[in-house]
Order: sequence, then structure tokens, then C-alpha cells
Amino acid sequence: MSMPNESRRNFIKKSSTAALTSTLGFNILSAKPRIFKNLNNDTLKIGLIGCGGRGTGAAYQASMADPNVMITAMADIFQDRLDKSYENLKLENPDKLMVDEDHKFIGFDSYKKVLESDVDVVILATPPNFRPGHLEAAVAAGKHIFTEKPVAVDAPGIRRVIETAKKAKENGLAMMSGFCWRHDVPKIDTYKKLSDGAIGDIQSVYNTYNTGALWFHERQPDWSDFEFEMRNWLYYNWMSGDHIIEQAIHSIDLMSWAFGDQLPERAVGTGGRQSRTEPQFGNIYDHFAVVFEYPDGKKGFHFSRQQKDCSRNYHLDMLGTEGRCYIDVFRKHEITGKEHWKWDGEKSNMYQNEHNTLFASIRKGEPFNDGIRMANSTMLGIWGRMVAYTGQSLTWDEAFNSQEVLGPELDQFTWDLEWPLQAVAKPGITKFT
Ligand SMILES: NC(=O)c1ccc[n+]([C@@H]2O[C@H](COP(=O)([O-])OP(=O)(O)OC[C@H]3O[C@@H](n4cnc5c(N)ncnc54)[C@H](O)[C@@H]3O)[C@@H](O)[C@H]2O)c1
Repeated sequence: MSMPNESRRNFIKKSSTAALTSTLGFNILSAKPRIFKNLNNDTLKIGLIGCGGRGTGAAYQASMADPNVMITAMADIFQDRLDKSYENLKLENPDKLMVDEDHKFIGFDSYKKVLESDVDVVILATPPNFRPGHLEAAVAAGKHIFTEKPVAVDAPGIRRVIETAKKAKENGLAMMSGFCWRHDVPKIDTYKKLSDGAIGDIQSVYNTYNTGALWFHERQPDWSDFEFEMRNWLYYNWMSGDHIIEQAIHSIDLMSWAFGDQLPERAVGTGGRQSRTEPQFGNIYDHFAVVFEYPDGKKGFHFSRQQKDCSRNYHLDMLGTEGRCYIDVFRKHEITGKEHWKWDGEKSNMYQNEHNTLFASIRKGEPFNDGIRMANSTMLGIWGRMVAYTGQSLTWDEAFNSQEVLGPELDQFTWDLEWPLQAVAKPGITKFT
């Protein structure tokens, strides 16, 4: 799977030109999407694109979010993934599942078939590299959207998502992102206190997403190289973006929330691949450390790792002019300083909360849209990867305007595709583009 640099550059150039046209074959800027009627007695039909672990969970939560919804179409590139997802949904909530055999679509163009069906809401839960194209196509088709994070793997992808989110808003379409910690009640309550000034002006936010090894699918004799990569997409930066984007982005998103979603000015960082070095783990790093510099000297310090048998923590430690807020994202939300406060309310499922909010907003005719915020949060992770991979210090403007396109366009995907695998990045040698 290698391609000389020159042909890779030409390929990438062609890919970015192709990106301006929607995958449904027309320019999204002139498309007239169908607007949902928002009548409370209409059944809202749901289509699932990407029937893996999260997609199946999201489809279940969508099916529980409103009394009058039905899952009617499903798409995946693998028959076994779709079948397993269908079986799980049937087991969990059979009354809300009405997917005929001719509404189970397989292949790289399966998303189009779901969008061409009469679904009202689509769940986008494939690997993130497909997201900018899937989002464009879903908005062009006039669908309300639940999209898993992250929403792109490179800056050109982010710029497309921002345009698509604006288009969705203009057309009255919902675009709810899977930044689920924003829908976790302890965090909502804690951040409310922070915005009311409980610790004064926040000066620094230390945040971690230090976790262990992740799932891996052993190679099967009948798999091609490409199938092996598609099944293990996490480990290929052109599909996942790398783990700072694919996973640790949740902590970065919480950091951003603490700073009122203001954009940092500059980032500097480091990272590498020390313990997960075997070729089967593609080309991603296993640790990152990034400092985000905000106006007035405020700083966000991000650490993440995916290394086996190391300590795990998912923390935020915020220092303000009048106190401190400490969050252990699964266990503890505490404020000390001018006041002492500890969250001890009733827990609820944040994944369910986000779907409840989404469906209620559609019913109300005020579709929820956090598309631009999710794009900006994803971009923070991409920026962190850029500074770690290259060893350079970069401003937001430099990172956001990067021309680097990591993967092929939607319509270039076939099972014969040979996409060149970039070498593992080396700071000081890998160039920023
Ligand atoms: N919010 C959260 O807490 C959370 C948790 C887990 C995963 N996620 C996100 O959800 C997304 C999916 O992750 P997952 O863990 O479910 O992965 P997964 O591998 O279990 O599922 C991805 C599914 O998409 C399918 N797929 C791949 N390319 C496709 C295409 N072009 N068209 C249709 N289907 C395609 C795969 O075959 C697979 O079934 C990722 O973006 C991930 O970051 C979010």
C-alpha cells in the first residue's frame, strides 16, 4: 500500500476538487432539501449509516427518544456488521424496528440508498473520514442528523462541515453531534456553576484522556489488505484522524467548553508511538501532549494516551481566579475555593439525553444544531495532531487553513482502492502542509 509522493499529491489535488460537489451528484449549495413537516403525529423514520457499536447504540437511543419513531433503513459496508446490529436492535426494542430486507443496504454507496429512502432522521456513525461527505449528502437530501464525533480528520474536512452546518441551519435541519459529555447532567450542572462565576475567571484547564489498549480485529484469511484496514480503521490516521481526535477529543471538547468555546490562538505539542509499535497498528501515535494557548495567557493542557497496563484517567482540573473545579468525568464533579460544592444529583444516561433533546427539538420545530461547535472542537484535536506530528508551533489560522487532505473522497471508494499509508509521523521531519 504505497504510492510515490508525487502521485499521492496529484491524487489529493483531484480529491479536494471533487469535494466541492456533493456525493449525491449535485452542488449542495444549490440543492433544495425537503423540509420535514414537524407534525407531532407523524412517525419519524430513522436511518442508520454505520452499524457498528456506537451506531447501534445511537439507533437504540433514537428509538427510545420519542413514542412515535421507527428505524426503517440501515447501511454498512459489511453484511456481518449490519446483521449483528439488526439482531441487537431486534432484541432490545423490536417494536421500533421495521427494516425490510430491501432497506438493508451494503456497500460504499449504501449511505445514498438510505438518504434516498423516506427516512426523516439519519444517524451517521461510520469512521470519521466519511463524515464530511455523509453530512453534505444528508443535508442535501433534507434529513435531520445525529452525527457521531469526530466530524472530520483534516482541516479541509472541517471547513466543509462548517459550511454544511450553516446550510442545515438555513434549511431548518437538526444537526446534533455525539459530543455526549455536553449532555451529561453532572457536567451541565457543573458548567452552569462555572459560568455563574463559582471559581472566578478560569485561567488554566488540565485535561486527560489516558486509556488502555483498544479493540482489534485479527486478520482473517479471506480479507484483503484493504478490508483489514477498514475493519481496523482506528489505527489509520486517514480514517480515524488518530486517537487524539477519535477518542481524546471528548476531553478537549470539555476544555473548550470551560473556556466558553473561545478559540485558542496557538498550540504546541509532542507525541509519539512507544508501546504500540507493531505494523498491525497502522500509523497512529499512542500518546499526545498539547498545550493550547488562549488569549490573556490562559492555557489548556491536554494529555492523552492509549497504552496498555498504564494508569487510566479522564480528568479535568480547572484553576480559576477564585477557586478550583475538579472533574473525574465518570465519578466526581467538585468545586472548591470561595465555595465548596459537589455534584450529588440523580444520574441519567448522557447518550439517551442527547437523543431526547434532538427528537424534542425536531417535534418542536426548533431543530437543535451544534454543527459549528462540533466542527471547532474536532479541529482542536486535528490541530493538536498537527503540532505533535510536525513538532511545530502553529496558530489557529495556520492549522484551520491547512490544505492537507488525508483520505479519498466518498465516490473514490471501491474494494480495489489502494490508499497509500503515510509513514508514522516524525516531529521535525514530517512537514506541516
Ligand atoms: N460518543 C461516543 O462516546 C462514541 C463512542 C464510540 C464511538 N464513537 C464514534 O462513533 C463512530 C463509530 O465508532 P464505532 O465504535 O461504532 O466503530 P465500529 O467500527 O464499531 O463501527 C463503524 C461501522 O461503520 C461501518 N462503515 C465503515 N465505513 C462505512 C461506510 N463508508 N458506509 C457505511 N458503513 C461504514 C463499519 O463497517 C462499522 O460497522 C466513530 O466516529 C467513533 O469515534 C463515539
